[in-house]
Amino acid sequence: MKIKNDLLLRAARGEATERTPVWLMRQAGRILPEYRAVRNKLSGFIELAQTPELAAEVTLQPVDLLEVDAAIIFSDILVIPEAMGLPYEMVEKRGPHFPKTIQTEADLNQIYIARPEESLSYVIDAIKIVKKALNGRVPLIGFAGAPWTIFAYMIEGGGSKTFSKAKAMLYSNPSLSHKLLQMITDSTIKYLRAQVEAGADLIQVFDSWAGILSPAQYEAFSIPYLRQIADAIDTVPKTIFAKDAHYALPSLSQLTYDTIGLDWTMDPQKSRDIVGPNKTLQGNLDPCALYADDETITKLTHEMLDNFGNHRYIANLGHGVYPDISPDKVKHFINVVKEYSSKQ
Ligand code: CP3
Repeated sequence: MKIKNDLLLRAARGEATERTPVWLMRQAGRILPEYRAVRNKLSGFIELAQTPELAAEVTLQPVDLLEVDAAIIFSDILVIPEAMGLPYEMVEKRGPHFPKTIQTEADLNQIYIARPEESLSYVIDAIKIVKKALNGRVPLIGFAGAPWTIFAYMIEGGGSKTFSKAKAMLYSNPSLSHKLLQMITDSTIKYLRAQVEAGADLIQVFDSWAGILSPAQYEAFSIPYLRQIADAIDTVPKTIFAKDAHYALPSLSQLTYDTIGLDWTMDPQKSRDIVGPNKTLQGNLDPCALYADDETITKLTHEMLDNFGNHRYIANLGHGVYPDISPDKVKHFINVVKEYSSKQ
């Protein structure tokens, strides 16, 4: 189906756009009271994510209410460990928790490569419903976690400031680490292919914990698997967002991702110099900037748009929007991007 507002796809492919496309990481499910209303009818996040009609409804909310230039399917990166045999719980106000983790070869033998057509059919069904409801209004983004970030949760068992158990595994048992990373990669490729087949127009890979590895570790334990994913998905544009990984920009720009996401600690012009003219950049306003007054948000957004320029650029925050940001501030940010960039 022809997409009416295809600014995001054109920007990702390096084509000209009348204005800069804008969407927000974590736009579905964090800030909107309308999300809370749907979520409160159920036992929690997991039930919502596994109910395709409702997952579709909350995916569409930001498109209707915030008028972003893309929808991102409502799910989580942690559905992959679950589909590999390692279920998670979402503990209210504390985040994800894995009752079982991977520590030994014996643990590895208990898990398997995911079969998304079976265990992740709820995401695939939600994508189909969203595509129908969007009726080509804006593109739909599919996503998955990067193998290193998923590995980190599977070893650690939950969130952590340091992910020291996961990092310890890389140093103490590189062979087990590579085996698990390969299983995650194989699962992720199947999952992303299924999302594309169901209608995802672009995919984004989140390497949220890229920043805690050394450059050498990132080369050994993340880049090869990100490369496999990029090479396997070749029918839609792809984005890699590796948070806090300044050191990895040269390597990331050698992969076949069309777009590289930047967090707010990365300088737009320096990043452009490193990645060269043939990639699209996405980002990178500090999510905390949206706590400021409208005038300050306007000024910071103008600066961001000036620094990135209007070619090969997708406006976004430098990480997910924080849960207590007012939707009005988010709307203001989106409107400023639209207005200012159409005159750039
Ligand atoms: O972008 C979107 O809005 C689509 C949905 C989406 C969710 N998680 C829904 C969610 C996406 C793209 C994600 C990605 C995700 N999940 C990442 C990568 C991006 C990043 O922020 O770095 C990571 C690391 C996770 C893991 C995760 N899921 C954590 C740490 C938590 C708890 C804290 C938090 O972020 O809210 C989650 C829970 C989660 N994932 C919620 C939602 C809407 C909140 C659950 C609830 O409603 O209580």
